[in-house]
Amino acid sequence: MDKFIINGGTKLSGKVKIDGAKNASLALMPATLLTNGKSILRNTPRLRDVNTMISLLEFFGVETTFTDHTLTLDTSNIKSQNAPYEHVKKMRASVYVLGPLLAKYGRAKVSLPGGCAWGPRPINLHIEGLKKLGAEIELEEGYIIAKAKKLVGAEINFEKSSVGATGNILMAATLAKGTTIINNAAKEPEINNLAQFLNKMGARISGINTSKLIIEGVNELSPATIDTIPDRIEAGTLLIAGAITKGKIELQNCNFEHINILINKLKESGCKLFVNNDLITLDASNIDINPIDISTAVYPGFPTDMQAQWIALMSVAKGVANVTDNIYLDRFNHVPELLRLGASIKMIENTAIITGIKKLKGAKVMSTDLRASASLVLAGLVADGTTEVLRVYHLDRGYQLIDEKLKMLGADIKRVEGTEY
Ligand code: UD1
Repeated sequence: MDKFIINGGTKLSGKVKIDGAKNASLALMPATLLTNGKSILRNTPRLRDVNTMISLLEFFGVETTFTDHTLTLDTSNIKSQNAPYEHVKKMRASVYVLGPLLAKYGRAKVSLPGGCAWGPRPINLHIEGLKKLGAEIELEEGYIIAKAKKLVGAEINFEKSSVGATGNILMAATLAKGTTIINNAAKEPEINNLAQFLNKMGARISGINTSKLIIEGVNELSPATIDTIPDRIEAGTLLIAGAITKGKIELQNCNFEHINILINKLKESGCKLFVNNDLITLDASNIDINPIDISTAVYPGFPTDMQAQWIALMSVAKGVANVTDNIYLDRFNHVPELLRLGASIKMIENTAIITGIKKLKGAKVMSTDLRASASLVLAGLVADGTTEVLRVYHLDRGYQLIDEKLKMLGADIKRVEGTEY
């Protein structure tokens, strides 16, 4: 497993390009199972989770080519509708194949995703939604076995807004008989990207960008081409890298509307931010970081996927900040590791109370999950001395070569391949 060695203290400066959104790609790719033929996904990020989804789709018989950032998926010869544990255990988003396989082929057998690094992540809303569309679903030996001759449209009221359940039901409903209404649907930009892709395939979805999606079922869908939206979490992570090092950076290929809340919070913390079309510039030179509270919420609220990185920034703020995660109450694996770097953080239930300190100190720290690892890298960039971030395969799941991007901005960061950890 690889590790990063970071010598902290360099103010970042320069420009870097943001890649396509991981969470959009992971929904767009299985959506192609609803068609027969070649779909083209442009601006696909080259990262581990995308490769995991490619392997799973290839297992079903999808033929793939990945050139630069263009991913072509040919679904003409699907041979299997079974997603085995070996594939699904690597990535929870594999459950996205359930809706499209069921809608198109009338059956799907998908392993239950299993545990997660930070507490339970149920899929009851996916299952209840598909049942509402008329699917028969059984759980057998760790597998979801779903059957339906033809799904039938229905009104679904999600008790919680769920990105994954909205995506799954949305895909399934495109080929259902009649109209489906999803109330309390997720409005995350990645879901909008998916809905737009489905409409390009011939689906009839309205209410995009709202929490009420209306889907009129059609008999068939055709392959299509889509541009994956920019990754708002990668952009946010790099903006915090600029802020925490008191640097000045420019990010290219962004959609600032997708991270408005983060931009506003960074401004409150004292950074100067400018947006111009797809460019975001952050200038944090010579500032003291103000302590700013955040509470995570569904879009357009502060994303849970930026919570860990915000805690890293608040660790060096001038005062006390409270960070509450309302989406995943246990998502705080980074806190004990940040303590190893000298951060002062107390937990009260799902709130981290962070007292900013002048200097973090380099140490060995362990990656536990994707965004937790990002927060450790950010802390390492500003810590005195050397920080080793172990097990960075978590980072590679969701960031395309973040070490290279940070290097382009001047960071002293080195990847050491195949260490013993
Ligand atoms: C997606 C993102 C993930 C992000 C999360 C929240 C992908 C591939 N992953 O995950 O990066 O952190 O959204 O923005 O897009 N819930 C249930 N039952 C369900 C499903 C969810 O109770 O059947 C709960 C979850 O425990 C959580 C909340 O709903 O508290 C939101 O989860 P959800 O939006 O479904 O997250 P994911 O789609 O798994």
